Amino acid sequence: MFLKKIAVFFAFIFFVFSDASFVDNLPKCHLEDNECLRDLYETVIRDIGKHGIPDLNIPPVDPIRLTNVTVSVLHVVNITMIDGVAKGIKDCLFEKFSINITSEIGHQENTCDLTIKGHYKVDTTSSLAENLLGGSSVHGDGNGKVKIDKLHLKFDFPFYAQRRDDGEIYIKCIYDLIKYDYEIQGKVAFFADNLYVGEQEISTPIIAMLNENWRFVMSGFGQPFVDKAMEFYFRFAGYFFDNVPARYYIIDDLSPYAKP
Ligand SMILES: *[C@@H]1O[C@H](CO)[C@@H](O)[C@H](O)[C@H]1NC(C)=O
Ligand SMILES: *[C@@H]1O[C@H](CO)[C@@H](O)[C@H](O)[C@H]1NC(C)=O
Ligand SMILES: *[C@@H]1O[C@H](CO)[C@@H](O)[C@H](O)[C@H]1NC(C)=O
Repeated sequence: MFLKKIAVFFAFIFFVFSDASFVDNLPKCHLEDNECLRDLYETVIRDIGKHGIPDLNIPPVDPIRLTNVTVSVLHVVNITMIDGVAKGIKDCLFEKFSINITSEIGHQENTCDLTIKGHYKVDTTSSLAENLLGGSSVHGDGNGKVKIDKLHLKFDFPFYAQRRDDGEIYIKCIYDLIKYDYEIQGKVAFFADNLYVGEQEISTPIIAMLNENWRFVMSGFGQPFVDKAMEFYFRFAGYFFDNVPARYYIIDDLSPYAKP
């Protein structure tokens, strides 16, 4: 009976961490060693991006597949990525990463080149069509692409050391309370085809106009897109922190800080 329990226990450990090379090869850091933490974070995002963590059922996440992801702009325009991909996160430059266990706030900064492309669809409300466009609706259904060069991101993310029922302590990020700020240090380029006002195909002039005015476009309408991108970014990071106990990458004992 006892042996059987041990066998089950080891089978469980094996099942959870049979990708031993992944967790065992993680850099191990002291809490206050920011350079080590930055290195760890970079290793994790690159590795998960390329290979996932197969035995935790985490698929490779770069490119990220986007299906039916809708961003609503000013409640009058919905832009939906029906089937597309976002890529670039694993190649971000990870510039800063630190965590303060006393204040329970982490900070990170990185700079990324991101590309989002695929089959898009645009819908607008009828009131926009009536008020601005003399009754013609704006609609589109075709190929779209947005390329952002040098998106610099700064995050403050609240977290705590969470003790779970398995006895392990995890770094638990509170996703809803993440604060972030961004700045486009490079530029943004748009592409789309099959965009119409009424019956008229307007993608060439519209795309030229958006590209000439990308700075204005992003400052006026960029926020909901970046908000959506952040949701995906943190899902990415969360795959790691929510699944790998802190003792695999933090040397210090977190038990004095742990909460349920
Ligand atoms: C996306 O939406 C379209 C149209 O509503 C639907 O046909 C398709 O099955 C959806 N795809 C997924 C993966 O949900
Ligand atoms: C962590 O935060 C606490 C409380 O805000 C502060 O007193 C302390 O100096 C911070 N530690 C580091 C290493 O920044
Ligand atoms: C945009 O999507 C939201 C939520 O799916 C929906 O309630 C709204 O009617 C849509 N607006 C347009 C212009 O299609």
